[in-house]
Amino acid sequence: MPDLRIILVGFGVVARSFAEIVESDGESLARRYGLKPKIVGIADSRGAAIAQTGIDLKKALGSKKDNGDLSGLDGIYHEGMTGAQVIKEADCDVVVESTPTEITAAEPGLTHLKTAMMKGRHVVCTNKGPLALAMPALIELAHHNEVVLKFSGTVGGGTPVLDFAKKCLEGSEVRSIKGILNGTCNYILTRMANESATMKDALADAQRLGYAEADPTYDVEGLDTACKLVITSNHVLGTGLSIKDIDIRGITDISVEDVKEALSQGETIKLIGGVAGGKAKVSPERVKLTHPLNVSGTFNAICFDTFPSGEVTLVGKGAGGPETATSVIRDLLEIRRAYAR
Ligand code: HSE
Repeated sequence: MPDLRIILVGFGVVARSFAEIVESDGESLARRYGLKPKIVGIADSRGAAIAQTGIDLKKALGSKKDNGDLSGLDGIYHEGMTGAQVIKEADCDVVVESTPTEITAAEPGLTHLKTAMMKGRHVVCTNKGPLALAMPALIELAHHNEVVLKFSGTVGGGTPVLDFAKKCLEGSEVRSIKGILNGTCNYILTRMANESATMKDALADAQRLGYAEADPTYDVEGLDTACKLVITSNHVLGTGLSIKDIDIRGITDISVEDVKEALSQGETIKLIGGVAGGKAKVSPERVKLTHPLNVSGTFNAICFDTFPSGEVTLVGKGAGGPETATSVIRDLLEIRRAYAR
């Protein structure tokens, strides 16, 4: 099996975790799946490195740790080079886009995705912004350019929410979807319930542990949940939603007292994203302690109401670098299968 040449656009928690897996577990990926990722380009917000023979990932990770950028990659580093430039200049099979989510214009992610697909590159995207804003158009662009656009990591981290719903629920009609889609909020609400932690302290810990978004207001104000709801609803129910269609309320006005009061009645408070009858909303809701959606910490849980099978709930870790990096590997395997036919 030939190498799969990859450009990493964005070198944050997810891309670095992916690079660590390739670096430490490359032989196992080749043995188990015949997958041989070769990283030929990496871009972060300060510059980029290109090497068609493959970038030394140990060096790249070391440079990022020591210098905060890729400048330690002597001879192949270009200060100020953008992700879009690398996509245009380097030869590759797949672009992995993992720059931070931004939902006003979804940039620079949207430009990266368009540039890659118009150049005939397959794309793995873990950035929710472009899909939350322009999913139908991006899917159309992928079809038009005959490339594969995969985005498993945008919902559920490493938990295969989208593929599960699309493939494993085939044969049942999914009528509505309801779930806990943000690990950071669930971590905060769990700490508030179990330890009476303040929202500020719990959020600071979530940031330190790498769960929160680059801009954590996306988590606590419900925007991240809304992005994931759009992507899930469009993918599973075929709705053509954009984030502008969602009614959004986050957890910023929830107090420890609110959580304790719910607990005294056998309930807990969770940030729920739900879609039913074409209407989608994000808001804190009370959930019975015995309900399958009552998961703790960074766990996500998503409940599909199906006909005739009833409710099917999937639970798994919804945030974290190594977890989300496994979704990138899953998507790469699917791309490899699709074009190896
Ligand atoms: N900030 C997100 C979360 C990361 O906490 O769920 C995963 O999308």
